Amino acid sequence: MSKVIILDYGSQVTQLIARRVRESGVYSEIHPCGTPAHEIAAMGPDAVILSGGPAGAGEKDAPGLDPGILGLGVPVLGICYGMQLLAHALGGGLARSQTREYGPADLEKTADCALWEGIEELEKGGSTRVWMSHGDKVTTPPPGFAVTGRTATLGIAAMCDAGRRIYALQFHPEVHHSACGGQIIRNFLFRVAGITPDWNMGSFIERVVSRVRGRVGQSHVICALSGGVDSTVVAVLLNKAIGRRLHCIFVDNGLLRQNEGEEVVGFLTEHFDLNLKLVQASERFLGLLAGVDDPERKRKSIGHAFIDIFEREASAIRDAGHDVRFLAQGTLYPDVIESVSAKGPSAVIKSHHNVGGLPEKMDLQLIEPLRELFKDEVRAVGAELGIPEPILRRHPFPGPGLAIRVIGEVTRERLEILRRADAIVQEELRASGWYRRVWQGFAVLLPLKTVGVMGDGRTYEHVIALRIVESADAMTADWARIPPEILAKISGRIINEVKGVNRVVYDISSKPPSTIEWE
Ligand code: XMP
Repeated sequence: MSKVIILDYGSQVTQLIARRVRESGVYSEIHPCGTPAHEIAAMGPDAVILSGGPAGAGEKDAPGLDPGILGLGVPVLGICYGMQLLAHALGGGLARSQTREYGPADLEKTADCALWEGIEELEKGGSTRVWMSHGDKVTTPPPGFAVTGRTATLGIAAMCDAGRRIYALQFHPEVHHSACGGQIIRNFLFRVAGITPDWNMGSFIERVVSRVRGRVGQSHVICALSGGVDSTVVAVLLNKAIGRRLHCIFVDNGLLRQNEGEEVVGFLTEHFDLNLKLVQASERFLGLLAGVDDPERKRKSIGHAFIDIFEREASAIRDAGHDVRFLAQGTLYPDVIESVSAKGPSAVIKSHHNVGGLPEKMDLQLIEPLRELFKDEVRAVGAELGIPEPILRRHPFPGPGLAIRVIGEVTRERLEILRRADAIVQEELRASGWYRRVWQGFAVLLPLKTVGVMGDGRTYEHVIALRIVESADAMTADWARIPPEILAKISGRIINEVKGVNRVVYDISSKPPSTIEWE
């Protein structure tokens, strides 16, 4: 399989480079900028891309470029900081700047370049809109390089040494604001590097199925189904690979959204003949949560109870004579990338455990079939496997469920109010088309009562907060600018239809400093 290696110098948008490359049908991986050339060579790349980053090339402590990378014999594309790094390494001139140029610019070509091919505006001598975000700039190209593009403020916006197949862009082709960015990246992949696109979800499924069969042999695998997209896709994918030797466990903890358990379990057993066990444990979870109002204690007791139930179910499967050796998890690529922190090249590894602590305790090996994929690719795999859109488009839902959306103590009555209010939020977001446009939208029940008036009487009832956010990866988020008439409809319906609520408020805080969930 063709492969592009992206070295991460700490840009906020490095992941976008990987996604654009993959959207072009070429597999790409992100690695920390300090990865030595011999390790990159061992990965067998067809091209290398150097990302942007916040440092100043050549400055003390700034991340550098292993010269061996330019000797790998594969094309190299430097973007933003990557361009300055190439200029610095190859003898070009750089000017430091305290101010950043940030925003759109119009790129004109100053020389023919493989990257400009097929971009009509440039071929006709016009300009195309690109996105800039940089402080320092290249003032003299390194020997052997031609300047291929400029903007009104930047004499050297692009340069290349076509003979050595080294290309550099000061702007960011990976962001959507660069009108022809996708074409520029495809030109690099196909015209410069001569790569054949062979990354698609059909071939991914085939590879995973045969890899899993090889690894699992005749053993059995268990998988915790949460009802979310990732664990659903894992289950259907592994079901394809090993059929009944996959044991799925879905725990109904009494903290699910309205109809959620029935919908997911019903659908999966009906359409995929999944080996699935529904464990009814609401009483146990609600009992544990009685009198608890501290969010961390809620999360911990839910987590422990879940592990305990899961262990018991796994032993039952073993007692039935099955050799269970593996645990399947829906870990995704953004969770395993060793990203370079914006504060410097120190590697930060985010780890993600859907079922925290399980593998160590149970001596199970992990199977993470989605660990190479971005979220949109997981959805594409799901669609290829025949999982319908409404399931693939479901918003993320936290493991502790509605328990962290009932602020303060969780009671059966409060859960019921929240569940009904939340169902209205889901319905109205879907009906208005906003469900697909936002990252997440849900209701939160506040542990306080306020005064209202309904008919001729005074009311003293609960407050529901609406939390609807836009986000790319949940690391940062902003409150969604939902049209007022839709908010009015949601609020009107909740107050009229949900007994026990007389006030609805909209959360207008971004993350950071707030979080998406309230607890
Ligand atoms: P926060 O509240 O940290 O949430 O901004 C970020 C994203 O993570 C989800 N979330 C969780 N998911 N287990 C999960 O599987 C959890 O304990 C958990 N807590 C938060 C949240 O819904 C949002 O999408």
